[in-house]
Amino acid sequence: MVLVYLIVASFLVLYWYFTRHFNHWKNKNVPFLKPLPFFGNIIDGILMRQAFGEIFSTLYQKSKEPVLGLFILDKPCLLLRDPEVIKRILVTDFQHFFDRNVMNNKRDDPIGTHILFFLKNPDWREMRVKITPVFTSSKMKAMSKLIENSSTELTNYLNTQVERKSVIEMKEVCLKFTVNVITSTAFGVDSNSFKDDSRFCEEAKRMFNWDNFLTSFRIRCYFLAHSLVKIFRLKLFHPTSIKFLEESFWDIMHTRVNSKSHRNDLIDILLQLKHDDKNFLDGDLLTSQAVVFFAAGFETSSSTMGFALHELALHPEIQTKLRNEITEISKEHGGINYDSLKKMPYLEMCVKETLRKYPVLPVLERKSNSRYTIPETNTVIEKDTAVFISLLGLQYDPKYFPNPEVFDPERFSSDNKHLIENYSYLPFGEGPRNCIGSRFGMMTVTFGLANIIKNFVVEATSETKQKIKLNANGLVLSSQNGIRLKVRRV
Ligand code: HEM
Repeated sequence: MVLVYLIVASFLVLYWYFTRHFNHWKNKNVPFLKPLPFFGNIIDGILMRQAFGEIFSTLYQKSKEPVLGLFILDKPCLLLRDPEVIKRILVTDFQHFFDRNVMNNKRDDPIGTHILFFLKNPDWREMRVKITPVFTSSKMKAMSKLIENSSTELTNYLNTQVERKSVIEMKEVCLKFTVNVITSTAFGVDSNSFKDDSRFCEEAKRMFNWDNFLTSFRIRCYFLAHSLVKIFRLKLFHPTSIKFLEESFWDIMHTRVNSKSHRNDLIDILLQLKHDDKNFLDGDLLTSQAVVFFAAGFETSSSTMGFALHELALHPEIQTKLRNEITEISKEHGGINYDSLKKMPYLEMCVKETLRKYPVLPVLERKSNSRYTIPETNTVIEKDTAVFISLLGLQYDPKYFPNPEVFDPERFSSDNKHLIENYSYLPFGEGPRNCIGSRFGMMTVTFGLANIIKNFVVEATSETKQKIKLNANGLVLSSQNGIRLKVRRV
């Protein structure tokens, strides 16, 4: 009997604990969705029944309000639905929202904690200023030569594959390409990614292997359930991958110092920073920046390429138009290179439309660092409240993108692009905390796609579905069944 009382009492205490804030938005007169005890509004996310991006787009669709009160487990947070409000939070009033809500686990994860994406102010600002010079126009142009080499390897590799296989897993091919690009441009090493036993590729896959429960759980907790990160002392990435990247990184650093050579890449910039400020840049801080380039660089770009190929396979007429542009312009400008890519508007339109349908990082998030009232409304956001922006919600909203399921690159033509409402299309985020590698990411994706489409025809198979089923465990958008396509030479 005592045991029953204890169980009931514990349950009541837990119930009280997890519902104690549930009047938060009601008291503030902010429209909100009714939460469930213990889960708040994200039960499908916690039980891994929906992909991270889909959770927030489902919530987005449940309302027409400019801001919507939600609960992540027991914590009140806001979903921003209105482009004007989004602009305020990301840009105009950024000084109230300079950090992301994502967990920064200083105690257990010395590498993860210093990654630019996870850094909190003032460390974030200091690091952002130091890393920004990696992406100047002249550096990008210099790096484009290395991407050209990776593109040649990509074409050669696909040539061997089409002889052997009738259906090819193109996401895997794109991953080999983007790993090759990142290691050669950022670290100055050949990852051998087009060979079967590339360790860089193995670790790349391990880092974002959504089918592995622990990987998915770990990363999801960093974004949604911070208390579990603390309780289970979770690290962001798999320790094996981090150990390998750390060792490779220091090997490369030492070789570079000993050879006294310069490549103007990330390694040179980090060496210079270390030279200028020995106290500021300790070992973990340096390694973290190399890890973020690797992690942020390969998965986002390879997924975007994969989704673009899926759409091009389903739309042969768009693929032919794109191939004609690439063939013509590259003939005039001595091949596919930095300059010729800039003269391919249709290629850019296709990539932009791909990023509309598949924003690989589908949710933007910030946390208020002071009490803030949204101007011209009475909505008060208390300090330390998380705010979310659903890119899938906005970019599939027929109000901004009519017939959102249709893949239509013309939305981004010079005649039409002014029709897109500002802050309704944000695949790289916005404001001072936007994607630092956006131009580099676009360059990688356009190089890769241009080389594939110029030389090969991609076609749907009998298994290809119109609508890609997203991997429910994924934090970034990824296809549950890969991107399997028929590929033949042009
Ligand atoms: C198609 C490719 C890519 C997409 C779609 C993408 C998307 C994004 C998005 C949506 C954000 C969050 C922005 C915000 O919160 O406002 C972000 C942040 C970031 N991205 Fe990318 N990204 C891509 C490629 C890259 C590449 C190639 C790199 C590095 C080489 C990179 C490095 C980063 C970093 C470091 C941040 C955090 C910036 C900060 O907090 O200051 N990304 N990215």
